[in-house]
Amino acid sequence: MTSTCLQPWFAYILPRYTSPTGIRNIHNIINYLPVTNPVRHSVIRVNKDTKPNAKMMKLLKTANIFRLVLAGLLIMGLIYLCYISTSLRYAKEDQRLYLKGEREHQNNFQWKMPQGREREHQDNFQLKMPQGGERVHQNNFQLKMPQGLSYDQPRVLGPDGKGIPLSPWLAPIVWEGTFDPILIDSIYKQQNLTIATTVFALGKLIYLCYISTSLRYPKEDQKICLKGEREHQDNFQLQISQGLSYNQPRVLGPDGKGIPLSPWLAPIVWEGTFDPTLIDSIYKQQNLTIVTTVFALGKYTRFLKDFLESAEQNYFVGFHVHYYIFTDEPEQVPAVELGEGHHLTVIKVPSSNRWQDISLSRMKRLEKLLESPFVNEADYVFSLDVDSKFYGRWGVETLGRLVGVIHAWFYGSSREQFTYERRPESQAFIPYSEGDYYYGGAVIGGLVKDVYQLAKTCREQLEIDASKSIEAVWQEESHLNKYFLYNKPSKLLSPEYLWDDSKSKPEELKVIRFSQVLKNYAEIRPNP
Ligand code: UDP
Ligand code: GAL
Ligand code: MN
Repeated sequence: MTSTCLQPWFAYILPRYTSPTGIRNIHNIINYLPVTNPVRHSVIRVNKDTKPNAKMMKLLKTANIFRLVLAGLLIMGLIYLCYISTSLRYAKEDQRLYLKGEREHQNNFQWKMPQGREREHQDNFQLKMPQGGERVHQNNFQLKMPQGLSYDQPRVLGPDGKGIPLSPWLAPIVWEGTFDPILIDSIYKQQNLTIATTVFALGKLIYLCYISTSLRYPKEDQKICLKGEREHQDNFQLQISQGLSYNQPRVLGPDGKGIPLSPWLAPIVWEGTFDPTLIDSIYKQQNLTIVTTVFALGKYTRFLKDFLESAEQNYFVGFHVHYYIFTDEPEQVPAVELGEGHHLTVIKVPSSNRWQDISLSRMKRLEKLLESPFVNEADYVFSLDVDSKFYGRWGVETLGRLVGVIHAWFYGSSREQFTYERRPESQAFIPYSEGDYYYGGAVIGGLVKDVYQLAKTCREQLEIDASKSIEAVWQEESHLNKYFLYNKPSKLLSPEYLWDDSKSKPEELKVIRFSQVLKNYAEIRPNP
């Protein structure tokens, strides 16, 4: 005769054996257990033919209670799992926003905040974030205008009978010759794109199946679109790999007129390419804020008055602008009357003995500002040289994901003549065989996320150079040119937007909007 033990917990492990017949089966199983197993030390001894008695029935009842408790625990576990998977989904969505550059502020910001305030800011930020994120996204590609707006009908062909390559709201019109297939293919190859194409071919089942599958994609795309990831070309970074060989784009056509599209189809803004009434009306629909950083250290504070006064006449008039003036002498910032919706904040920074360092530190300070919660309000950012003056309209036509300006002195030059950094030891190095345009360092613009990425990258590259005791020929402008070569701007400003007072106005330039003023370097710079 074999005897065995039936512990309640054992009965629950093998619940189907807890019926009276089951007990006999348990007996068989327990036989396989080693003699050292405590299960074999019984409280109830049974043999094959034992009939369940009261004690055993009590035991089985206890086992049932165990099973009930277990079932409860399982249900609670399941509920918990559901909760975890939901919060994981939130984390993912947050990460998308992070990719849009909004979370970056928060993350970087957290490191620096004193512990007590950390959470407060984080919470505030999270409350604001979705709103801000959606806003930027919307601005980027919903070009709505109100009904009944009166403006000239756009023409498709110019007076020379050739196709016009830009709509009056600065959307590229793709004609043969407007783009470089090698270049544009290379840019888009970097992205793992899927082009959903719907085909309607009723009558054949197989086609119907195809349609129903392909219809799912637009839906998913729409979801992604709402997260701000993929919708518009403007949202992609237009990157190329180093060493790609293609023709240098020209700035002026054979007729001497400004060419309005880059070979990667970024609009080049010239007078006459856009309709101010129409484009203002489109952007007015959105509640935009353009953060504008200006550095005025040492004797450069003297430029602030003209800069600000002329800006108030010409710069985003009627739109929200927030100037951030970085200076070592806040008391030198003149009181300039600001137009409606325009604000100004002065940020005190330490000075530097070398103008090169002042100029260089702009990237770092721009990066830090964009990390801070100050700029939660910002949709777009511009960083502008203070030794400049506005002479004409600078408005929403300049807004884009990443914006660079074509330098006044080099738009007619071949790429070998550009004053890029040519020493391979510098991170700003560009070989003679490469280059699109020579960009001016006095104007950088774009969405917060994109300008942040630019400033951060340039700051890192500048630091690598500094650690090797090499300074690029035109400091941050050299690094900017390197960045723009491999991360192409989505909008280019013609030299109208960065002229030089020392250069007379040529035929091809219909208007000068912003220009570097004359200055006596020896007198205003802290060092030669
Ligand atoms: N800057 C400044 N103080 C200086 C030197 C430069 O504030 O002593 C800032 C200022 O915003 C200026 C920018 O750095 O517009 C670029 O320097 P600068 O205009 O002298 O360079 P350039 O345009 O002549 O190459
Ligand atoms: C000068 C300009 C400098 C720098 C240089 C590049 O005309 O004043 O800021 O851009 O061109 O070669
Ligand atoms: Mn300057």
